[in-house]
Amino acid sequence: MADGKKKDEATRLVSSGRPKERPSHPVTHPPERASTILFPTYEDFTATEREFFYGRFGTRTHRAFEASIGELEAAEHVYLAPSGLAAVTLSLLAFAQPGSHILVTDSAYDPVRGYCDRFLKRMQVETEYYDPHIGSDIAGLIRENTAAILAESPGSLTFEIQDIPALGSAAKQAGVPLLVDNTWSAGVYFKPLDHGATVSIQAATKYIGGHSDCLLGTIAMNDPSAERKVANCLRQIGSNVSADDVWLAHRGLRTLAARLPVHQSNGIALARWLEARDDVVCVLHPALESHPDHELWKRDFTGATGLFGFELPPCSDKQLTAFCNALEHFGMGYSWGGFESLCIPVPVHKYRTVSPRPEPGPERGPLMRIHAGLESADDLIMDLEQAFAAFDAAGKQG
Ligand SMILES: Cc1ncc(COP(=O)(O)O)c(C=O)c1O
Repeated sequence: MADGKKKDEATRLVSSGRPKERPSHPVTHPPERASTILFPTYEDFTATEREFFYGRFGTRTHRAFEASIGELEAAEHVYLAPSGLAAVTLSLLAFAQPGSHILVTDSAYDPVRGYCDRFLKRMQVETEYYDPHIGSDIAGLIRENTAAILAESPGSLTFEIQDIPALGSAAKQAGVPLLVDNTWSAGVYFKPLDHGATVSIQAATKYIGGHSDCLLGTIAMNDPSAERKVANCLRQIGSNVSADDVWLAHRGLRTLAARLPVHQSNGIALARWLEARDDVVCVLHPALESHPDHELWKRDFTGATGLFGFELPPCSDKQLTAFCNALEHFGMGYSWGGFESLCIPVPVHKYRTVSPRPEPGPERGPLMRIHAGLESADDLIMDLEQAFAAFDAAGKQG
């Protein structure tokens, strides 16, 4: 800018990744689909520096979106993967090799565990799960053959905030890359690369896409050695992302900074309302003062998005069914980050090994996960109110 002032993130997200040289162009790069890319001359075909040379490595649509994610994540290098899960699994694959050991947070998105416990195990890679609250004690778990540490903050089912700077400094001292799943913050409310992480990963499927109609993962980093490993892994595997999905995600990114404050305020309004009820056991939302990691969240994050958890009281299947079926505005379905609210039970007890959660039964109720969408908070609260009434009525029927 002429006055040298750095533009606000909302302003940068609206125009990032646009070509600077072309006099007229669409506001977001349209889907440019290609397998074959033709070169005008033999010299162009055999040149060592070729910006585009085969569709699998992307087109202008991909480069424009990657530039925008670079702005968002404060990253020099960005690669795309066909889903958020693939962004995590391919990043781990880039660093692991037969005989190596990786450290994965116990709060990781559960399909990541399936990948580690089955696929990586077949590749003779040992996965050790660690308590998400481990902080600098992670140093005690790092071995000679530790190839990567994976964090997810907050955990997308149980919402522990991890001490990323502490993990980052232990990882750096040992020369091990720290990978962070940054999907919850959408990259707007937390910048892992500025807090000691080597790689920041997002499921752009969620808030970036924002409309529940595309699947995409982003892998962002500054470290040149990490960049080489990730680039080679994606290239050798033959990973590719459709230009249509990239275009949809880029379109979503344009309004990200405007959408998130609504997800944030709706999420906090619902969480506070739930917390005030006698029939809610607890609410897991890092922006609430009652959350055990609230101070850590305040230290490292600049805001909250709309995903959080709460525990119902011990109940029968009939009551849980009545609660879910009574909801009108909250959909029941996987994923999150779209404009619509969602509410589902999450069977966390099935996944944990290091920091177990008890199974719902006579002592504990089911853990529910809410994604607060862009509807009116009052309507969402009324919807929950009548779902609790249905829950009570089903309890009285026995
Ligand atoms: C934290 C987190 N990371 C990654 C993913 C995977 O994203 P995708 O559905 O795009 O594979 C999810 C999906 O729910 C998630 O919650």
